[in-house]
Amino acid sequence: MSYYQRHVFFCLNQRANGEASCADHDAQGAFDHCKSRVKQLGLAGKDGVRVNKAGCLDRCAGGPVAVVYPEAVWYSWVDQSDIDEIVESHLRDGKVVERLVLPDHVGR
Ligand code: FES
Repeated sequence: MSYYQRHVFFCLNQRANGEASCADHDAQGAFDHCKSRVKQLGLAGKDGVRVNKAGCLDRCAGGPVAVVYPEAVWYSWVDQSDIDEIVESHLRDGKVVERLVLPDHVGR
């Protein structure tokens, strides 16, 4: 049994050289929103959900991106209602939000 049931990593990387980076798409806002929704729903903590910051995950072309383990499902989103859907459907109910899954070919 894992310590956390699901562990989410949000890329919050900001590049200064003009290359695409997740911070250009308010990754911090999505991270903050996800963390507070997980807490509000009582999902946070041991045997539950942990939401962490990450540096570049090397899939910047699809930014903003986050990955959920143990399923290793990668997401990209447009707004906070998409984050709500990921929290409620995947993190709480275990159902992947297929429409927000990052296609396999998207890399840096
Ligand atoms: S800057 Fe976010 S994946 Fe690279």
